[in-house]
Amino acid sequence: MRIYLIGYMGCGKSTIGRKIAALMGISFVDLDKYIEERYFKSVPAIFAEEGEERFREKERVALHEVSEFEDVIVGTGGGAPCFFDNMEMMNKNGVTIYLAPDIQVLASRLIKSKTERPLIAGKSHDELILFIESALQRRSPFYEKAKIIIRGENNLDPQLVIDKIKQLDIKN
Ligand code: S3P
Repeated sequence: MRIYLIGYMGCGKSTIGRKIAALMGISFVDLDKYIEERYFKSVPAIFAEEGEERFREKERVALHEVSEFEDVIVGTGGGAPCFFDNMEMMNKNGVTIYLAPDIQVLASRLIKSKTERPLIAGKSHDELILFIESALQRRSPFYEKAKIIIRGENNLDPQLVIDKIKQLDIKN
């Protein structure tokens, strides 16, 4: 069992991922944290010192490494599915779940945690809405390749996600 949670920054991958992992008795890996521990550097520092391109390479390596783990839920960074063949790789290796709350919800969550997220640092609420809209236009085609899509659920019930995973298992 390997599950990947994907979606834009602020969609709740880590929060819900931890809850699902606890209920299913499997472990949760936050891909950004894994990158920070593996490379001894914070994500903002990698962006600032090495640039986004290098970050994406490190992210790809990290994603391949965690994809060797068994019985795990991986909370990926918001950009991870949109670079290289990462999305195909995840679909080949496990169940991908796209969490897609409303843009307003994403923005109100992100406004509180901008400093840890280099791509949105310093943006006002209105700038953030426009930024998210345009990012989602580019990213949605990747996100929508997920095997399970959960839209508009802003306070996601972990059991609902687990039920969807079980339904998918039955269908296959
Ligand atoms: C990014 C999302 C971040 C992190 C990095 C880039 C993105 O992860 O990987 O700042 O490109 O959307 P979260 O989605 O966990 O915030």
